[in-house]
Amino acid sequence: MTVGGEATATGNGQTVCVTGAGGYIGSWIVKLLLEKGYAVRGTVRNPDDAKNAHLRGLAGAAERLVLCKADLLDGDALRAAIAGCHGVFHTASPITDDPGGTACGCVGSPFSDGRRLVKVVR
Ligand SMILES: NC(=O)c1ccc[n+]([C@@H]2O[C@H](COP(=O)([O-])OP(=O)(O)OC[C@H]3O[C@@H](n4cnc5c(N)ncnc54)[C@H](OP(=O)(O)O)[C@@H]3O)[C@@H](O)[C@H]2O)c1
Repeated sequence: MTVGGEATATGNGQTVCVTGAGGYIGSWIVKLLLEKGYAVRGTVRNPDDAKNAHLRGLAGAAERLVLCKADLLDGDALRAAIAGCHGVFHTASPITDDPGGTACGCVGSPFSDGRRLVKVVR
């Protein structure tokens, strides 16, 4: 999968999952992937939340963006969102303003260690 490169590059029919699609980083990745011609499966906790509406307005979204409901703690939902994808950008993360805490550790994210991420992606 190539995300960078020329503006005319296409996704060649490939599908990429972006977790946390409605977040700051996730939204930019979704935008760039759509511009490159990829089909995108974006995970959000609530597809109907108005804060995710900007995603549907992105160029190419009507044709190639699917929003999937998935919490990081719901392995089955994540597995379903990732299944069949050619690549995954994992940007979803609980944000904490506690300087002493690690975000993933606070809520026991399935991505808090690499082995669990591999387990979900398989
Ligand atoms: N310059 C700017 O305008 C701007 C704007 C935003 C952020 N930032 C900075 O950029 C940094 C990085 O942005 P970011 O994209 O990592 O953070 P973010 O914009 O807060 O996005 C975090 C994403 O993680 C998702 N998430 C959190 N907990 C989850 C859970 N339990 N299950 C599933 N998804 C979950 C959120 O989904 P939900 O939508 O469901 O909560 C959201 O999509 C931020 O920390 C901030 O400092 C800058």
